[in-house]
Amino acid sequence: MTDTVIDRKQKIFDRWAPSYDWLFPSVVYQAIHQRLLEFVHLPAQQSVLDLGCGTGRLLNRLATQFADLEGTGLDLSAEMLHQAEQQNRYPSRLHFVQGRAQNLPFASEQFDAVFSTLSFLHYPDPERVFLEVGRVLRSAGSFYLVDPLLRWQPALQVLPMPAGEIRFYGFEARAQLGEQAGFRCQGHYFLLGPVVLTQFSKLG
Ligand SMILES: C[S@@+](CC[C@H](N)C(=O)[O-])C[C@H]1O[C@@H](n2cnc3c(N)ncnc32)[C@H](O)[C@@H]1O
Repeated sequence: MTDTVIDRKQKIFDRWAPSYDWLFPSVVYQAIHQRLLEFVHLPAQQSVLDLGCGTGRLLNRLATQFADLEGTGLDLSAEMLHQAEQQNRYPSRLHFVQGRAQNLPFASEQFDAVFSTLSFLHYPDPERVFLEVGRVLRSAGSFYLVDPLLRWQPALQVLPMPAGEIRFYGFEARAQLGEQAGFRCQGHYFLLGPVVLTQFSKLG
C-alpha cells in the first residue's frame, strides 16, 4: 500500500519536473527558500542533505551562501533529478541521488543538517522518515522541516487526493513526531503565508 502511494507520487513528479521551475508555484517555492535561509545556521564545512530536493534550487542557494558547504539532494523522481543535474551550479560540491525518504541510502551520522521543503507532506509514513533523518544526522544536527499548515491546527489533517493522500501537520503534531524520534523542537516560524518552518535539533 505504502509502495503504491509512493510509486504514484513518483509518476506525478516525473511528469511535473520539466515545467517545475517555470510554473507559478515554483516562484512561491523559491520565495520560501529565500525566507528559510534567514533561519539557517551551519557549522564550518557543513555536509547537508535535502530530502525531496526536486530540481535542486534550495541546495544551489545554500551552496551560494555557504562557500564550503557539501550538499546531497535525494528525490524519488528521476526526472526531477535530471533537472537538478542540469541546473547544478556547483558540481564539485552538490550531488544528487535517487531514493526514498523512508529508506535513506546513507551511512549513519553523515550530515550536519537535513532539509525538507514542501515534500514531507507527501510521505505516507512520517514516523519512519523522522527515524531515518535522526539516523543520518550527527549529534546536535538540525532538521529544517518546511511545509504548509492547512489551517490553524494543532494536529494532523489528511487530505485524500487521487495520487495519494497529503498530510498537513500542526505545531503539536510536528513536535510530537520529533520527540518520538529523539529530537528537540526548537520552534515554529511562519515563512510565507501558511508555510511554516519547524526547526529540530537532534538530542545527543
Ligand atoms: C513539491 S516538490 C518540492 C521540491 C523541493 N523541495 C522544493 O522546495 O522546490 C516535492 C518533491 O518531493 C519528492 N518526493 C515525494 N515523496 C518522496 C519520497 N517518499 N521520497 C523522496 N522524495 C519524495 C517529489 O519527487 C518532489 O520532487
